[in-house]
Amino acid sequence: MLLNPFAGVYLTDPARTWRHILDDPGEVHYAEDLGLWLISRHADVRRALADATTFTNALTLAPVYQVCPEAMSVLMRLDAPPTTAAADPPVHHRTRRALRATFANTAERVETEYGAIVRRRVDQLVSRLAARRGERVDLIPELATELPLLVVLDILGVPDADIARIRSWADGQIALVWGQPDPAEQVRLAQGLLDFWHYCEELVDQRVDGGQPGDDFIGRALTYRDDDDAVLSVPEVASLAFNLLVAGHETTAGLLAHALDQALSNPRHWSALTADRGAVGAFVAETLRFAPAIDGWLRVTSRDVTVGTVTIPAGARCLLLIGAANRDPAVFAHPDQFTPGRADVGNHLSFGHGPHFCIGAGLARLEAEITITRLTEAIPGLRLATAQQRSYKPNVAFRAHDTLLAVIDSVAPAEASATSGAAATDAAAA
Ligand code: HEM
Repeated sequence: MLLNPFAGVYLTDPARTWRHILDDPGEVHYAEDLGLWLISRHADVRRALADATTFTNALTLAPVYQVCPEAMSVLMRLDAPPTTAAADPPVHHRTRRALRATFANTAERVETEYGAIVRRRVDQLVSRLAARRGERVDLIPELATELPLLVVLDILGVPDADIARIRSWADGQIALVWGQPDPAEQVRLAQGLLDFWHYCEELVDQRVDGGQPGDDFIGRALTYRDDDDAVLSVPEVASLAFNLLVAGHETTAGLLAHALDQALSNPRHWSALTADRGAVGAFVAETLRFAPAIDGWLRVTSRDVTVGTVTIPAGARCLLLIGAANRDPAVFAHPDQFTPGRADVGNHLSFGHGPHFCIGAGLARLEAEITITRLTEAIPGLRLATAQQRSYKPNVAFRAHDTLLAVIDSVAPAEASATSGAAATDAAAA
């Protein structure tokens, strides 16, 4: 089976490929060009996510292609200990416990601990957009990628002044691990990743040296470890920060972009959200199912394992196609229809499942819900610009819009829905 995540139809309309794979009678496929086993059915993806002993995480954050020797020699110097998505048991049990204690991961804790941060940052960005009445704006850099990064910096206690380099390092990590860079680019990105790691180490070392941990995430993690490396070492605190800075912003940026795209592509959706803000939660949930920000994720088998009728050998890299699993007709009624409020939406696997379930799921939902709510209040006439060309960054895991052009319109939503037929590119029916 051929799967090219870097060009062609998968870049513009991955759902067509997911449908093709799901319709094929074989349960599991081998993508020769990628050297990856493709697991697409909901029950199989869920099982792989849940079984950390058979489907291991150690190589989850390692490049999906043969890295050139020069880049590899740079990466060999990266000595970040595995703590989250790249950690397996028994280390993961310990680091996950630390993460649960120091990072808010239930709806109540997220609201209490991060609600004010999220509202302040959303207000800041939405007010800036609202002031640009009549202008054409790109919602990706001006909102979708900016907000989650600002929020995660506040939570971790990282200075705003470092935003530009952190963004560039995080983008670089995604291109290096899940993209297809040429050898010269691999070396440049690998060097950036090493610099990023050293930056996180320094960030934590400065706190340790200053003797005042503080009340942000880094401070809490240092207090939690209580000078006991068996609980959590100082490099592990730095590694948690290193992972959160990427996991906490690139993913939520994708969710915001997809939610805005779905909401604005169909004026009926936007009008409904403007009229009933209680509908925002269900809208965000359906966006997560229909257009997941991470639509493929990696595991490596620790033993021969049979999935359906296919035996995957030990040591094989598997791509769990979360996007396909979320459209499996065995679980979701009319899976290719975008239906906010559908009863089966809670079965989506967009935040993973089992021991590595996303620690930031509650935060991501809160950010998306507050953003949509504030936009409908402050800019009810927001609409997509005409002649929208959608394109996504070429990689096997993160589905991120390059641009989403919109007009800050003062026309009320009811009028807009009547007049914006030309602007409406109804992706919801895709
Ligand atoms: C829409 C937004 C998000 C999506 C789609 C998403 C997706 C995921 C997925 C699929 C996993 C499972 C990885 C695995 O099984 O190996 C995961 C894990 C993780 N996520 Fe998220 N995530 C999002 C937002 C966030 C945010 C906001 C944070 C933190 C600020 C975060 C931090 C993490 C961490 C640390 C893990 C690893 C947990 C572990 O291995 O125990 N994520 N996420």
